[in-house]
Amino acid sequence: MKVAIVGATGLVGTMFLKVLEERDLKITNLYLFASKRSVGKKIKFREKEYSVEELTENSFDREIDIALFSAGGEISKKYAPLASEKGILVIDNSSAWRMKEKVPLIVPEVNREFAFENKGIIANPNCSTIQCMLPLKVLHEKYGLKRVIYNTYQAVSGTGQKGIEDLQNGLKGMEAKTYPHQIVNNCLPHIDSFLDNGYTKEEMKMINETRKILNISNLPITATCVRVPVLNSHSISITAELEKDFNIEDIRTEFSNFQGIKVVDNPKENLYPLASDATGQDKVLVGRIRKDFSADKSINFWVVADNIRKGAATNAIQIAEIFMK
Ligand code: A2P
Repeated sequence: MKVAIVGATGLVGTMFLKVLEERDLKITNLYLFASKRSVGKKIKFREKEYSVEELTENSFDREIDIALFSAGGEISKKYAPLASEKGILVIDNSSAWRMKEKVPLIVPEVNREFAFENKGIIANPNCSTIQCMLPLKVLHEKYGLKRVIYNTYQAVSGTGQKGIEDLQNGLKGMEAKTYPHQIVNNCLPHIDSFLDNGYTKEEMKMINETRKILNISNLPITATCVRVPVLNSHSISITAELEKDFNIEDIRTEFSNFQGIKVVDNPKENLYPLASDATGQDKVLVGRIRKDFSADKSINFWVVADNIRKGAATNAIQIAEIFMK
């Protein structure tokens, strides 16, 4: 398999390489692209050193099977079509293509069958959306989703290296450069820009992408997305109203049996999903599973996952694996 990585020097790009190294995939050629700034930088992959090249319009004039993109929306808008026109399958981590009609939006455990309907570009969903899809798929299949409420507690690594720097510098008393306010000692109810409807773009991404992935175009969903002073892994509180009545123990078992989910739910022993436990693994941790007694047929639970791994790099590579096997 001949693989290209666009944005190879970034947080997600670096994780693409780490996850590719961990998994047993045969890679015969590897091409690493980033901006002019990184030209000549050396990156080691499986004992071999590769030089980073500048991404240009000619970058895809060679034999490449799959290109993993994570260099921001503008780069994806311009270069993903150039790559796919040359017969390269693009798996794009930006939001540029996610809601386009002919672009599958894939979480392999949930809707892998739609990946084959691609026209050369497959989108990787938003990091917060990905981790919620696994438990929501379980609930929808068995009980039917009626309404979903998301409240997120999102780590600074979701903003890339500059988000991490704001937290680390803030801890030393320096001012925020990336976030509009100090992230240390604060929860910022503001991720991406605000829209005229009062929601943020991040909130609307979660709403629209959930509907697309679960294939329920009119599902009522609301979301409040919050950036918290946590280095890595997003924590999300989900309330789901269901069509059918349920037994909470059955749901706990069904979550446990679903590929990609690990139930961590023993409050008496202080066991519940934590960002520090999710970091470095690919499982989506689910806990605090309980009946919501404020509404009929409603359930509350807490979902935590590594936003750079399952929320970005691992999910994209799992999509690639659909075509590699
Ligand atoms: P570079 O390191 O050369 O700036 P992150 O999300 O962690 O900030 O990473 C963004 C990634 O996107 C980096 O690999 C960065 O490369 C890459 N990138 C940014 N701008 C461009 C560009 N104009 N062309 C190609 N790659 C880019």
